[in-house]
Amino acid sequence: MINDFRIHSFSEYKKEYKKSVKDPEKFWDKIAENFVWQQKWEKPLEYDFEKADFKWFQGGKLNITENVLDRHLEKNGNKTALIWEPNNPLEETRIITYRQLHSKVCQFANVLKNNGIEKGDRVCIYMPMIPELAIALLACARIGAVHSIVFAGFSSSAIASRINDSQCKVLVTANEVYRGTKPINLKAICDEALKDCPSIQTCIVYRRAIEPTSMVGGRDKFWMDEMHKVDDNCPAEIMDAEDPLFILYTSGSTGKPKGMVHTCGGYMVETAYSFDNIFQMEHNDIYWCTADIGWITGHSYIIYGPLACGATSVMFEGIPSFPDFGRFWEIVEKLKVTHFYTAPTAIRSLARESLDYVEKYDLSSLKVLGSVGEPINEEAWHWFNDYIGKGNCPIVDTWWQTETGSILISPLAGITPLRPTFATLPLPGIQPVLMDEQGKEVEAVNEKAEGRLAIKFPWPSMARTIYGDHKRYIETYFSTFPGYYFTGDGAYRDVMENYRITGRVDDVVIVSGHNLGTAPIENAINEHEAVAESAVVGYPHDIKGNALYAFVILQDGVQGSPELEAEIKNGVSKLIGAIAKPDKIQFVSGLPKTRSGKIMRRILRKIASDETDFGDTSTLLDPDIVTVIQKGKV
Ligand code: WT7
Repeated sequence: MINDFRIHSFSEYKKEYKKSVKDPEKFWDKIAENFVWQQKWEKPLEYDFEKADFKWFQGGKLNITENVLDRHLEKNGNKTALIWEPNNPLEETRIITYRQLHSKVCQFANVLKNNGIEKGDRVCIYMPMIPELAIALLACARIGAVHSIVFAGFSSSAIASRINDSQCKVLVTANEVYRGTKPINLKAICDEALKDCPSIQTCIVYRRAIEPTSMVGGRDKFWMDEMHKVDDNCPAEIMDAEDPLFILYTSGSTGKPKGMVHTCGGYMVETAYSFDNIFQMEHNDIYWCTADIGWITGHSYIIYGPLACGATSVMFEGIPSFPDFGRFWEIVEKLKVTHFYTAPTAIRSLARESLDYVEKYDLSSLKVLGSVGEPINEEAWHWFNDYIGKGNCPIVDTWWQTETGSILISPLAGITPLRPTFATLPLPGIQPVLMDEQGKEVEAVNEKAEGRLAIKFPWPSMARTIYGDHKRYIETYFSTFPGYYFTGDGAYRDVMENYRITGRVDDVVIVSGHNLGTAPIENAINEHEAVAESAVVGYPHDIKGNALYAFVILQDGVQGSPELEAEIKNGVSKLIGAIAKPDKIQFVSGLPKTRSGKIMRRILRKIASDETDFGDTSTLLDPDIVTVIQKGKV
């Protein structure tokens, strides 16, 4: 591998970890020297927790695409960068070398320039999992434009609010795409969104399907037509280490999504460092992360991290169940995948199907398995280990967040002793702590401990702000425990100091690995004219990990019905996306509220989870409502 920071043994890990805590700045300084910089930084770190101001490698100049592309050309130009596997197995696999990717990225960068995009401008990308998505993203980085990728399962109003929040100038999309057997007209969704997006001047459309595509004159342009107008010569824009690289929206506890801003230098350094050490790839290995590039996992561990290490990364357009439940394993066999990184929800849904789907394929190429997105339960862990890894592949359970930019807690494959369902130990440079109810660190070392997970020292790939709202950034992450970054997760630590993440302790629910705020879903439900008020909570679900339960109070005189339920669900789907649809809706006459009017979600969570011990309900305005709701449970 191209970088020289690989850890080879557990004792080396412990040594590096110690070093990184003793002098984090010196530690990261040395890691950062592995990359191509146009100018060296003056200072590795400057920070202020109170102002939530973090600057890594200040004064350093670079372009991340020189590190993920140009740097490999001389020795590895003909090495495969991306392998693309289409939704339909009858379509052809596409192999893209580093040289080809470099050329396409430069060419599309010129397209963006031709369409008026300059350094610092925001570009929204709403595309399926096709190589052009990777090309568009890297083309933005090439010219210093800030990409804002919106997952292609989000609705038109979700796109519009994200475009408007960061005032994107260009939208890049595709016309039609198939997910399994289902066609989705992305361009039509964009047209709907663009009715409310005055900042968008141009919409560039990649023809994924040979369907007639309605184009708006003056605004819409086809990808191919634009590519024909330009060559592939595009010098990389020189960026400051702290210039923004991208914005990625994640849900929060109020209705508005948070545009997390990641910057060039630190993000590059840590995604590559973590990828290299966690996955331990060798030169000819084939790595496949099944996430969508629309999420942070895809940004950091399909594109930036793997490509910065010169790895071969698989991109899959389809779904695990098409043409049948053997699709993942068919691809592993076909491409001889060595490193397979997926989500517990996918594992659970495949584990439910017949083992014939697994046993039909030769999975002997596999060396390392990975899990991300939510706590992995024992059954899923063992199924993954026994039937996919055949007991021979270490499973890296990687804990991190959109906000952290890269993986913070994870085993290093083949190095860290595993404990099923534990994300185990922090990466070098990361200082996790557990906080108690009083906001003090749980000190117990070599003793079991439980608490809220916080991080004590800055790390290079942390998000720097929420776009346009630094105050919210401070409030959300740095005010619960002053002097610490608060993750929103609860965690348990064993005597070996292994961490097990137990789940969110705030109003975020992880459904099938998707991070959903309950507040925006409630807002969407309340949009329905028949609804007076609502409260949404998560409850345990066998496949999805968590599912959504909505308690809904209707307007006076309105009766609940299956039709109304369907309308409410469709409303959520339209305003946010199908992933946010509540699984269950219960019409209630009231909600458990405190005297000050705050809904006690703790109680609703228990009702939804079929628990009966509600604890102290004496502070409720109307304690009887709890039994009434419980009796009407659906
Ligand atoms: C939340 C972040 C960046 C990963 C994709 C999701 C949960 C993530 C794990 C894990 C237990 C996990 C946490 C976290 N989570 N990975 N290995 N074990 N929980 O990113 O959408 O920003 O969600 O996902 O609750 O806070 P995200």
